[in-house]
Amino acid sequence: MTLSEQTKTIQTFIISHPNVTSISDSDELHKLYTDLIDCLVDHNHLYYIESSSIISDKEYDDLFAYLKKIEELHPEIISSNSPTQSLVGQVSEGFKQAKHTIKLASLENTYNAEDLTDRDERIKKILEKSFEVISASSVGAEIQTENLKYIIEPKFDGISVELIYENGRLEKAITRWDWRVWEDITANVKTIKNIPQKLKQPMDISVRWEIMMPKSVWKDINKEREENGEIPFANTRNAASGSIKLLDSKEVAKRWLVCYVYDTLCHSDLKELESESNWSVIANEYEAIHLESLWLPTYPRKKEVNSIQEVVDICLDQQIKKQLESEDYDFDGLVIKVKDYQYRNILGSTDHHPRWAVAYKFPAQLASTKILSVDFQVWRTWIITPVANLEPIELSGVTIKRVSLHNFDFIQAKDLHIGDYVWIQRSGEVIPYIVWVITERRQDIQPIIMPKACPSCEGKVNNVDMHYYCSNPQCPAKLKEQILHFVSKNCMDIQWIWDSIVDILVDQKIVQNIADIYRIPEQSTQILLRKFPGIGDKKVSEIVKEIEESKQQPLRRLINGLGIPHVGKKMAQDIVQAMVSQQPVCLEDILHILTDRDFLITVYGIGGKTLDALVDYFSDTQNQEMLMHLRDIGMKFRVDTNGYDLYTEKKESFSITGTFPVSRDLIVSTLEKEGYIFHDNPTKSTQLMLIGEKAGSKREKAQELWITIYEGREILTKQFPILATIKINDISDKPKITQTSLF
Ligand code: IVH
Repeated sequence: MTLSEQTKTIQTFIISHPNVTSISDSDELHKLYTDLIDCLVDHNHLYYIESSSIISDKEYDDLFAYLKKIEELHPEIISSNSPTQSLVGQVSEGFKQAKHTIKLASLENTYNAEDLTDRDERIKKILEKSFEVISASSVGAEIQTENLKYIIEPKFDGISVELIYENGRLEKAITRWDWRVWEDITANVKTIKNIPQKLKQPMDISVRWEIMMPKSVWKDINKEREENGEIPFANTRNAASGSIKLLDSKEVAKRWLVCYVYDTLCHSDLKELESESNWSVIANEYEAIHLESLWLPTYPRKKEVNSIQEVVDICLDQQIKKQLESEDYDFDGLVIKVKDYQYRNILGSTDHHPRWAVAYKFPAQLASTKILSVDFQVWRTWIITPVANLEPIELSGVTIKRVSLHNFDFIQAKDLHIGDYVWIQRSGEVIPYIVWVITERRQDIQPIIMPKACPSCEGKVNNVDMHYYCSNPQCPAKLKEQILHFVSKNCMDIQWIWDSIVDILVDQKIVQNIADIYRIPEQSTQILLRKFPGIGDKKVSEIVKEIEESKQQPLRRLINGLGIPHVGKKMAQDIVQAMVSQQPVCLEDILHILTDRDFLITVYGIGGKTLDALVDYFSDTQNQEMLMHLRDIGMKFRVDTNGYDLYTEKKESFSITGTFPVSRDLIVSTLEKEGYIFHDNPTKSTQLMLIGEKAGSKREKAQELWITIYEGREILTKQFPILATIKINDISDKPKITQTSLF
């Protein structure tokens, strides 16, 4: 039985036995218990080690809760293998095991905002009891539960990590895949840009962070993975986890991970530092440490509330949920924390969870619908992708009609058929995907059969690994996709050519291969194009202008644009980078290098399939002729490696206000050269705000817009080292990372 079948069997059983007490047969109970353990251990493995869970958090929590219920009622059967005792796992290859300073707890989850009121009552009872003890011993102690305040923060959906600073310097980063497996990921964490390597004060402190991948980066990486025939990451969390476990830190740096602090685990008392007492003073005692003033970045959205009713209102407030969804990170709920550290200490923790904090998880955005039919789409890499047409359903405000089925392996793994009902999930802005087929609702189903002929040109379809390819080099659907890719922003950047123009060009047989794009400036083509509705003189002359300019594009963009299987943006860049040492002076040299297996194998990251694809492409005489034709019409094939890696392309946008010792223009141009994008006025899409002396209204605007603010020389030059080279001497030394409150 596969894990998904086993899980389904258990879930079905649980639905029919919501109370453990209704299971009277002890053999049946025992079998269920061991099956549940097996199943959860496997899900843990998928989640923590393989970074690819197949059930939702809610489903996992329900299974886990049921296991706990069995153990509560039948403590005699508790097995040491049970995930409630300690989770089973292993350290991934290539990483050292590491030990956390203290045991890392997790949050208890609730999916029901009303539960929070009960919890509030329980908290107050514990506190009141302890106040009685306190007031009995110290006359006049005036702590009262009416003063109970909560802090509400977003719940990050990423990877939890402990960072240990010793003497103010980052010494160690340790993941928590589960309660037994901890990996030392220090080298990789040091590549994350917003993590300070050094704190404001030389103290010993251990803090807990969440590593996340911004949604925008995740989308780009997935696009590239799909282009290279790799399976995309299902969500940002899997992508962050897969990235932080890469063995090459340089590659991790290119994943644009971001990290925020949310908890202090332990710290040395500052006064004790001189007496060299380090970790000895720390215990599992919480104390209000002002994280921001140590330069530790916390997420700016927080809200302090005075009553549990306010907590419940916020949890149910759809506006807040929507606002969080529109941000560049995935949040799967809210975390509600008792504000007062003194109260936190009184409340303490259970074996696994703190009593002073709880997670309110947003209801899963799941909806069920029916697969009506399956279409097959031809991609430029010749891959034929199955796409399901669904009975339209609405999921968090968006109507979903189609969903990608990726490849045939996916169809088999999920056991999908036409006519099946499926659960569709969508979190935030994320592309919807099928999580589960509902076998219980199965009635009239038909198998999904991959086509033998290409749906566009009827060419023969070949099957290699899990992909199906159209074998016809002249396939028009493929050609259209290839052209759209060739003219796209990351390739030749001819943005005036869009889908409808490509349709005309291909259908009219003006363009039969990529090089034919350069026939558009011919008079006859221009006249023909102008005959189509919506294509006027202006559009045609813009296209012609961009086509001319594109001849100057560097070789790496051209190679990316050729649509060679497994060769995406990054691979093209790495190839050209390696090529520099060979000093090619003409196209013949370039072709020689690109068909030289001994050279290509030295390029970092090239595997067998990519090598074959490159050599096949560049030794093909038709392709060679096409490239020579491009040369004859003026293509430059510039072997230039500057400014095209993810680093410089992905830099954030910034705005600036206040006075600086050097001109603002100089700061702007310096940062722009580094790849940052300048916004004259801060807007919703501005990411950073640099603030000098006497800042005006732009500062307030930035605060309103939740833009991360950098202020003070040390902060500025630390965040933007390039600025140190233009000597901003006189800016106030006081670092202030503005903590805006409230949602
Ligand atoms: S406070 C449990 N605050 O949620 C110790 N945790 O099990 C106190 N998480 O992996 C945690 N966002 O890493 C806290 N704003 C936030 C959080 C947060 C996400 C994580 C935590 C853990 C998981 C819950």
